[in-house]
Amino acid sequence: MADEASLSVGVPRETFPGERRVALTPNALPAFTKVGLRIIVESGAGAEAGFLDEAYTHHGAEIGSRADAFGADIVLQVRTYPANPDAGKCDLDLLRPDQLVIGLANPLANPEGVAELARRKVTFFAMELVPRITRAQSMDALSSQANIGGYKAVIRAARLLPKMMPMMTTAAGTIPPAKVFVLGVGVAGLQAIATARRLGAVVQAFDVRPETKEQVESLGAKFVEVPLDTSEAKGTGGYAKEQSEDFLRRQRELMAKVVAASDIVITTAQVPGKKAPVLVTADMVRGMAPGSVIVDMAAGQGGNVELSQPDEEVLVNGVTIDGPTNLPSTVPVHASMTYAKNLTAFLMNMYNGKERILKVDTEDEIVRESLVARSGEVTNARVRQALGLDDPVQQPPPTPVPAAPAQPAAATTGKVP
Ligand code: NAI
Repeated sequence: MADEASLSVGVPRETFPGERRVALTPNALPAFTKVGLRIIVESGAGAEAGFLDEAYTHHGAEIGSRADAFGADIVLQVRTYPANPDAGKCDLDLLRPDQLVIGLANPLANPEGVAELARRKVTFFAMELVPRITRAQSMDALSSQANIGGYKAVIRAARLLPKMMPMMTTAAGTIPPAKVFVLGVGVAGLQAIATARRLGAVVQAFDVRPETKEQVESLGAKFVEVPLDTSEAKGTGGYAKEQSEDFLRRQRELMAKVVAASDIVITTAQVPGKKAPVLVTADMVRGMAPGSVIVDMAAGQGGNVELSQPDEEVLVNGVTIDGPTNLPSTVPVHASMTYAKNLTAFLMNMYNGKERILKVDTEDEIVRESLVARSGEVTNARVRQALGLDDPVQQPPPTPVPAAPAQPAAATTGKVP
């Protein structure tokens, strides 16, 4: 039962242009209400993903205004202010000190946005910085969304390709399978391989991390073997290190033939916090057959493909280069559901449901790594570095987060169970 002293969780409507996801889906709410958390959803927050206000009230939420959702003790968003700096500006005055804000934050690309929330004294978590450790798997929003992105990249390519994907032997002749090349075999790349295989394509893939060879092969694809020394390519946390320009030049030379022979190229290569490496040059595109398709999943981070443009389809010599930057939002139902699961697991890691206390305990690696601002300071070392502040911040001891005095949502239509 939620009562006057219950902590409240607010879910505002997303305002980033084209964003159709919502931070919490109705099916996620019982996990909150059963441990006494009050949920306030901005009216219409789930509409773009097909979740109506009634579905939220049915699962125990209250429906209110944007100010009501931002007035909660804990605000859950898909894109917090630094990841939505234009439209999100008008929400800044709705924030209050010591409130928790949790969501995607683009913290390394927009550290100034993090600093702005620090000035507002909110306790701010960036979901991108949840470490890739076993205990945090269920909280890994980058993975849940990249998985969906990898799937949708192949579906888009199939739509743009003037050919079929599977091999077909028909009375009117045999149609060969489409050839797909996936560059970068992290979460998105693996799902792109799996999806292309399901559609019947012949798939090849490459990644600088040698351990991905086995994963590629286990999905029925071929790992492209090239004489590149990748023994030093592995970074920390399952990510790659940034490669030198010399390495990338050699890689491009060695990949040119495979790119030229492919009907579809899906690029997903990335090193966190860095500009995406250019792996496909304009010349390599000109070497492809007309009708071929490239989907550059890194178009929003500078692009793996020299000629790609964010959110545009560029046509070069009959080759379509697609640069979608928000693929998860094009699958808003499952993208929202999986993201809601990530947020639920993340919050419940800090919340003691029995005692009904939420503690921000920086002894916990997950909390420490993802906490980007608290008590007026930017706390994360990498974000501080990006801001030119290199002295580490001393973390305060864990303190319970008190519930703000209960204020019923203005236009409450739901019952608090
Ligand atoms: P990830 O970190 O799991 O995978 C990236 C992979 O690229 C790693 O396996 C890494 O070893 C590899 N890589 C790095 N440099 C390389 C190189 N020179 N050659 C070959 N491989 C290289 O990342 P994840 O989660 O799979 O995301 C991949 C990319 O897709 C990121 O840029 C991410 O921002 C983007 N993305 C885009 C979406 C969209 O809507 N366009 C949606 C979700 C993710």
